[in-house]
Amino acid sequence: MQISRSLFDEVMVPNYAPSAIIPVKGEGSRIWDQQGREFVDFAGGIAVNCLGHCHPVLVNALTEQANKLWHLSNTMTNEPALMLAKALVDNTFAEKVYFANSGAESNEAALKLVRRVALNNYGPHKSQIIAFKQAFHGRTLFTVSVGGQAAYSDGFGPKPGDIDHAEYNNLDSVKALISDNTCAVVLEPLQGEGGIISPTPEFIQGVRELCDKHNALLVFDEVQTGVGRTGELYAYMGLGVVPDVLTTAKALGGGFPIGAMLTTTEIAKHLVVGTHGSTYGGNPLACAVGLAAFNTVNTSAVLDGVKEREQWFREGINAINDKYKVFSEVRGKGLLLGAVLNADYAGKAREFMLAAADEGLLVLMAGANVVRMAPSLVIPKEDVSQGLARFERAVAKVVAAAKAV
Ligand SMILES: Cc1ncc(COP(=O)(O)O)c(C=O)c1O
Repeated sequence: MQISRSLFDEVMVPNYAPSAIIPVKGEGSRIWDQQGREFVDFAGGIAVNCLGHCHPVLVNALTEQANKLWHLSNTMTNEPALMLAKALVDNTFAEKVYFANSGAESNEAALKLVRRVALNNYGPHKSQIIAFKQAFHGRTLFTVSVGGQAAYSDGFGPKPGDIDHAEYNNLDSVKALISDNTCAVVLEPLQGEGGIISPTPEFIQGVRELCDKHNALLVFDEVQTGVGRTGELYAYMGLGVVPDVLTTAKALGGGFPIGAMLTTTEIAKHLVVGTHGSTYGGNPLACAVGLAAFNTVNTSAVLDGVKEREQWFREGINAINDKYKVFSEVRGKGLLLGAVLNADYAGKAREFMLAAADEGLLVLMAGANVVRMAPSLVIPKEDVSQGLARFERAVAKVVAAAKAV
């Protein structure tokens, strides 16, 4: 059967608009489409493929587990889940782990947990959740309501209530909302979908202090920043602030679906038997691959390598910008970088993304003004150089087209 892009329109719910490229094979930071066209991958499946495509360590972990045991359900104790949980506990602030299948589900668990803790400890008045404008936490009704974007949350009927949105990097806007009725403040320790916005140290420390003052829990959504993406194992480690609850997904499975919520014993004790759950959470295949990905990323060679690669990217993009003057800045941390379009090219991130694909390079957007790059954490220098050369050709084309108008 020949699979074509038009089959998508025929058989799929139209909530996505995928590219015309149909990839069929991946290796490292390269993928190939049905026609054998090769692409350098700076998109990483939206910050998921932390070790590139088909990394031998992950393929080995998956096939080994596939020959042993696929699924058990949470009525049974399973070895791969406990091995991954132990690794997460041993290497983070957390003492307890809950497994889910995605970022949204990990956040859903976190949101239900913070509500339950406040209810049990203080009573029903303490239910306010403070989140941030331009945040993104997933697509369930609770997580789109907590994310600060009406485009994603409106039009689905009544939303979960008592959720307020402050301005990111504006501590006064948090002060204006927070009170003893606040059960939690939820934030990304580097806003991803919202445009690659890093927090200032004063903001992040100030939010921690406000949470402590009002007995509110601090939740870090590290779905996009976690597992080495910023050059730290988790972004909080580079910020000098420890959250009470942390969610992780995307890179955790290196391409296999898995998510997790991490917290302390004191907080976790409120999710007693029967209060929350998931059939697939902790699936042995996902956890076996997750452990292999986690152990591979959590080494100084890979984490220091992310910082080194950040420099290659920044130098490369800046050199392109010196010639073509399209970006106002490059922001982000580690290998979650955003090239921000200047006023002359405002709103044209999609054009750059499509031109890059024409040149054989996959990049992402983070809103209409930011070209986002989230490549493999171990992308070889050769692939970075070739990808940036293709990016330069794409930029040149967009600039030439704009000048021709
Ligand atoms: C910060 C953040 N949280 C949550 C999510 C949702 O994760 P998922 O799509 O796996 O549900 C994303 C996805 O982009 C994200 O970037």
